[in-house]
Amino acid sequence: MVTQRYAPLSGTNTNTNSNTNTGTGTDSAVQIPLIGLGTWPMTGVECTEAVTRALEAGYRHVDTAENYRNEDAVGRAVVGSGTSRDEVFVTSKFNREWHGPVDTVRAGLEAGLERAGLEYFDLYLVHWPNPHLDRYVQACESLAALTEAGLIRSWGVSNFKPAHLQRVLEAGLVPSVNQIHCQPTDAQWDVQEANTAAGVLTAAYTPIGRGSELLDRPEITSIAARLGRTPAQVVLRWHVQQGRIAIPKSADPQRQRENLEVFSFELTPEEMAALGGLDAGVPSETRQDADEFGH
Ligand SMILES: NC(=O)c1ccc[n+]([C@@H]2O[C@H](COP(=O)([O-])OP(=O)(O)OC[C@H]3O[C@@H](n4cnc5c(N)ncnc54)[C@H](OP(=O)(O)O)[C@@H]3O)[C@@H](O)[C@H]2O)c1
Repeated sequence: MVTQRYAPLSGTNTNTNSNTNTGTGTDSAVQIPLIGLGTWPMTGVECTEAVTRALEAGYRHVDTAENYRNEDAVGRAVVGSGTSRDEVFVTSKFNREWHGPVDTVRAGLEAGLERAGLEYFDLYLVHWPNPHLDRYVQACESLAALTEAGLIRSWGVSNFKPAHLQRVLEAGLVPSVNQIHCQPTDAQWDVQEANTAAGVLTAAYTPIGRGSELLDRPEITSIAARLGRTPAQVVLRWHVQQGRIAIPKSADPQRQRENLEVFSFELTPEEMAALGGLDAGVPSETRQDADEFGH
């Protein structure tokens, strides 16, 4: 079984337990495993089996969302795994109908926990800013209050551009994570820099480009050949070596293990630079514009 590596999250509550929490925040950081299992677009039995196999292989971080319609399947795997709940980091995200005051976000959270059959989420994210609604700052205020009250361990955002993040910061709030589309050919360096400057950890989704032609790029396959690793491992190593979280999805037990085994080798500074240099500076086909798209 592969041993995970972790990063500390800021602005968290380590006391989360919906039955016993006193509502007092603590200064101790929640630890997030650097590699998590992505679960979209799996649902039902396929999803439960994939998460079960991943937990057996050593994954300790699973990414789900209301919009994926698989919180139930993920929760079944977590509960049925035999792994202690406090050893598994579960991220979920909520849709725009819950953007609003604390009671509204809390209702969304409670519905998600009910579906998942879990007592808490370790990280709960605003899935998309939906700027036309202009309620994402309020949603963040609500998340901070729910974290302080111990109903979630940490809160964050997803698909927030620097301008969206700036408004959250101006409200005196710092999300622990911004989960964004990020891969070597579309690294969104401007978003990453804004995250880092604000003390927000970047989590990369679609981290291996959905297993597409990215993994056939000679700049990547040549490094993989030198290291005796796969192209996906090289790309995932690039993410974690830069301190990013990455959440590759795989339904296949062998590829799941492959994607987790990125902690026993290193890329040289030249190789890191070569991967970073693949950024085309334009959105890839799989990236949606957060000013236009959302749910
Ligand atoms: N916050 C957001 O708005 C947002 C948006 C999109 C996704 N996400 C999250 O991010 C997760 C990952 O993103 P993603 O699913 O878009 O893309 P991804 O993880 O980059 O790629 C997944 C695809 O790559 C294949 N694959 C996995 N490991 C491989 C390997 N080692 N070699 C070759 N192919 C491999 C998978 O197929 P097999 O399953 O057959 O292995 C699957 O088709 C999602 O599952 C979801 O949890 C979040």
